[in-house]
Amino acid sequence: MNAPVIAIDGPTASGKGSVAARIAAELGWHYLDSGAIYRILALAGLQRGFALDDEEALAALAPALDVKFDGETIRLDGADVSLDVRRETTGNAASKIAVLPAVRAALMARLRAFRQSPGLVGDGRDMGSVVFPDAPLKIFLTASAEARADRRYKQLIEKGLPASLDSLVQELRERDARDAMRAVAPLKPCEDAILLDTTLISIAEAVAFVLRHARQRG
Ligand code: C5P
Repeated sequence: MNAPVIAIDGPTASGKGSVAARIAAELGWHYLDSGAIYRILALAGLQRGFALDDEEALAALAPALDVKFDGETIRLDGADVSLDVRRETTGNAASKIAVLPAVRAALMARLRAFRQSPGLVGDGRDMGSVVFPDAPLKIFLTASAEARADRRYKQLIEKGLPASLDSLVQELRERDARDAMRAVAPLKPCEDAILLDTTLISIAEAVAFVLRHARQRG
């Protein structure tokens, strides 16, 4: 039998990463930050001088990526890219390559391989709709663009990375539009997802909400 999955999807900076990581820790399950995989592929493509719309080259690169996750540290071809992966420029590049159907198809096996016993908490845009459609629990997190920009601003400043609140609101809106309008795996809650708006609640409250649902099903 397949290991159980909790799929947590939502727009950028909706809190899904923090919520998913804490739930995985709480349950002792594996954790998949699928956005990081798109970010790493974008970074690897840029390092090789590929254009962000070069679907064939990027799709060919996807299965060959040499990536290692070691706690908070991410290594690409042996080099520590943890900070580069978190830059807004990398997130924007990731959302450009994420519109390419062959790239999404090429990453599928990599993403599904994270599903291992005793269970997986996966966060992204299409965890519940495409990658793990049989996940017993699907959550869709939202929050206002302003609340999300504010959170992202604090995360970036904390990491010592450059950030401007005004341009973050603008970029989040552009990224949301690109993620929602694309033809393949667009960002939208699937029918069997439970919606949670995190604009006015804390991460701890969101975690408690998801754990309640997980235990009800468990
Ligand atoms: O979640 P994060 O902001 O790190 O994701 C970066 C970009 O990767 C997103 O804007 C989205 O375009 C893409 N992505 C995706 N499907 C996923 C995860 C991320 O298309 N499951």
